[in-house]
Amino acid sequence: MDVLDAIRSYRPCAQFQSRPVPPEKLKTVLAAARLAPSQHNLQPWRFVVVQDDERKRLLAQASNRGKMIAEAPAVIVAFSVEEDIPVTIGGYISAYPLDVAVAVDHLQLAATAEGLGTRWLIEFNEDKVRSVLHVPEGIHPIAVIPIGFPANGNGSAVPVDEDGRKSPDEIIAYDEYPWH
Ligand SMILES: Cc1cc2nc3c(=O)[nH]c(=O)nc-3n(C[C@H](O)[C@H](O)[C@H](O)COP(=O)(O)O)c2cc1C
Repeated sequence: MDVLDAIRSYRPCAQFQSRPVPPEKLKTVLAAARLAPSQHNLQPWRFVVVQDDERKRLLAQASNRGKMIAEAPAVIVAFSVEEDIPVTIGGYISAYPLDVAVAVDHLQLAATAEGLGTRWLIEFNEDKVRSVLHVPEGIHPIAVIPIGFPANGNGSAVPVDEDGRKSPDEIIAYDEYPWH
């Protein structure tokens, strides 16, 4: 699957088969995240793969999507390393979660290409996630990502182009900013 196919066919997955993610697929997906570009090539990300049932159960209690987390055969938690990021974007916003977001997108597209479903969850209790995974100060969970084979085949009932995306005219312009 080429990258545009993966972009078009990615759909956030809500239900997973219980069969485990084959280790080689997991490796491929994590390798894609590792290759993501980052500011000054600082690579301020860490990924913890949670497959242990008890740990997943505790992680599930830290999120409003607990069922999804508990049922997925694996959960990848992506962290940002705050101390590695010395600058901000244009001086107005902290950059440290952004590099991690790029890596997570790589990860999700690679997972799609491997026939795996994922979903990026941000509604979690940071303190609880930190406690379950023994995360030190200065490291922040950015994404909790259940991963597994989708329960409904490829997980995509509706093609992404037709499902609630803004039209090109609403989001793309040339030469100047037209939306006032
Ligand atoms: C940064 C980010 C955070 C998200 N957080 C959540 C979340 O906390 N819970 C959830 O169910 N889905 C989450 N999602 C999935 C989005 O809700 C989903 O991608 C969006 O609704 C588009 O869905 P569609 O591709 O099915 O149209 C998140 C996606 C992104 C990119």
